[in-house]
Amino acid sequence: MRALLTKVEQDSRLDRAGDRLQKVVLGTLRPRRLRDLLHGVTLGHPLHPAMVQVPVGAWISAAVLDLMPGQRRPATVLVGLGTVSALPAAVAGLNDWAALARDQRRVGLVHAAANTVGMTLYAGSLAARLSGRHGMGRALGFLGLSTVSLGAYIGGHLAYKQGAQVNQSISELHRMTDGWHSLADMATLPQRTLITREVDDDISVILYRHGDEVTVMLERCPHQSGPLGEGEVQEIDGHACVVCPWHGSAFRLNGGEVVQGPSGNDQQILPTRIQNGVLQTRLP
Ligand code: FES
Repeated sequence: MRALLTKVEQDSRLDRAGDRLQKVVLGTLRPRRLRDLLHGVTLGHPLHPAMVQVPVGAWISAAVLDLMPGQRRPATVLVGLGTVSALPAAVAGLNDWAALARDQRRVGLVHAAANTVGMTLYAGSLAARLSGRHGMGRALGFLGLSTVSLGAYIGGHLAYKQGAQVNQSISELHRMTDGWHSLADMATLPQRTLITREVDDDISVILYRHGDEVTVMLERCPHQSGPLGEGEVQEIDGHACVVCPWHGSAFRLNGGEVVQGPSGNDQQILPTRIQNGVLQTRLP
């Protein structure tokens, strides 16, 4: 299975269908606020993995009830709940998928296809149960559970092996050594300008001075490692934010909160102090 998914990552034949679907998703989910909501910007955490808890929980519970006598009615209710709640979870997933890198989109396409088949089987299961054909409803439900479990496995590959929608910058912290690191002389640090510096020789951070306050933030964008140091500072909702030059994610400079997707994760701010006129930072 792992070898197969590695082949899927590299299979350019999936790109035609993927590019078409991406256009449809981006063309349909146009309002930025809707896309941000679906990315999980308001939570500071990707929304799709949280939303799938409801259908998965409902479907697994229905499968358990299907194995017990006299539980037709609650099992039908749970299959209905799972099928209805899977739709918004799928929309959030498609919204994330449309902003992934090409190899991730290929695997994401297979993940979405497996889950679409699973949802269709569950819709058939619900229809069968509601029309009194409970044996057929149970059979379609078990088939649906097997298919969405395969989809979940592929989703795990996408997240944990390919790093889709996980915070791409946080591993920088794990490489940073303890103690205070000198970054810049305050006397020469310009106001309201993004400056890039390195900690431990190869961990990039950005500095932004506003009066006597200086923000030090990891430079790699949490979304896909874009260089925030090459981004622009813009005022969004009354806060100075750095906007990633690659796909437009924006992070507040006075806290690191994500205010604009596709990143669903906040950016890490580092503690600072001034020692003998020199700006220093350390691990949080
Ligand atoms: S790398 Fe995609 S928004 Fe920054």
